[in-house]
Amino acid sequence: MAFPERFSNLPDYAFPRLRKLLDAHAPGGEQIAMTIGEPRHPMPEFVGPILAANLAGFGVYPPNDGTPELLSAITGWIKRRYGAGLNEDQVMVLNGTREGLFNACVALCPETKGGKTPVVLMPNPFYQVYAVAALSVGAEPVYVPATAATGFLPDYASLPPAVLDRVAVAYICSPANPQGAVASRTYWRDLLALAERHDFVIFADECYSEIWRTAPPPGALEVAAEVGANPERVFSFHSLSKRSNLPGLRSGFVAGGARGIAEMRKLRSFAGAPLPLPIQRVSEAAWADEIHVTENRALYQDKFRAADEIFSGLQGFQCPEGGFFLWLPVEDGEAAALKLWRETGVRVLPGAYLSRDAGGQNPGMTYLRVALVAPKEEMQRGLIQLRDCLYG
Ligand SMILES: Cc1ncc(COP(=O)(O)O)c(C=O)c1O
Repeated sequence: MAFPERFSNLPDYAFPRLRKLLDAHAPGGEQIAMTIGEPRHPMPEFVGPILAANLAGFGVYPPNDGTPELLSAITGWIKRRYGAGLNEDQVMVLNGTREGLFNACVALCPETKGGKTPVVLMPNPFYQVYAVAALSVGAEPVYVPATAATGFLPDYASLPPAVLDRVAVAYICSPANPQGAVASRTYWRDLLALAERHDFVIFADECYSEIWRTAPPPGALEVAAEVGANPERVFSFHSLSKRSNLPGLRSGFVAGGARGIAEMRKLRSFAGAPLPLPIQRVSEAAWADEIHVTENRALYQDKFRAADEIFSGLQGFQCPEGGFFLWLPVEDGEAAALKLWRETGVRVLPGAYLSRDAGGQNPGMTYLRVALVAPKEEMQRGLIQLRDCLYG
């Protein structure tokens, strides 16, 4: 397959699509952006001073995989959060999880599996980099519905064995963007067993792990350690973007089996962009501190409560267990987003921009994704307008 053809069928990214849909029309009132998942709570106070104290670090090439101090801060966090003891060769630092989720597929997806084209599984709807990663390595992306009927997580075990035998990589997101569903211990256990049975690796996108409603979501590394899974089966991706309100810092990590991490490190040494040293120093402090994370979570929990009140009694409304999106059922997502914009000025994302047609079904068509990132009063005004305009 010629290289450009791999991407020729890609839809535009969600946000240019949204601009095309809405921007020819005037907003009906005060503009309230509830589209992009960009955290807007305050960043931790230590960021500026640490950056300033380490400016000289911009004058040197940084260590590719992470400084020993940063790797140690990360393994310390994993131990405290998940009870899993990892060595530093089981972790690699990332410029945020998006590039990591892409490059891990390049590093670990084989050219063929059992002599056939490998399959990369992903939930549908999903964070779009999963599909681009699959296409980039010449694998076949398989979009597995994550709908109300499946608890908003994909039921990978329901796929035919012939497909499962071709699976090289399975992406999974918990808490899920956009639905906010959380994978239970049983879900992780079953997925690990399925990966073992059909010989594939799990890429667990857990970048929303610290934004939860009532209890910390169980993690892939935690359950893998509990059941004594082969560490090469699962790679977990975490980020400071949501946990620490630092989406512009571009800092995260991947953790998992030492062999897989060594492959990722090797690819990174050829083609990666290491994190600047001052940013590694800030990251070290951010993984070591939980106070700012607890404060941040409390702000989201307050917003969840406000959303509950505003939508109480609305059929199909489910407040998320984690993450910071509402996934609201409507008749037609694009029509609803346009109506809302034209009548009120509230901007939300049609669910179909995060999902694909698969098997004659597009599970995002009848949803809107609403980001709870604006300050609380602004968010409440937006949600009330949305309720009255679309469900009144
Ligand atoms: C599900 C999911 N995964 C990964 C990312 C990437 O985050 P970052 O690269 O900032 O860590 C995002 C960002 O919005 C996301 O929603």
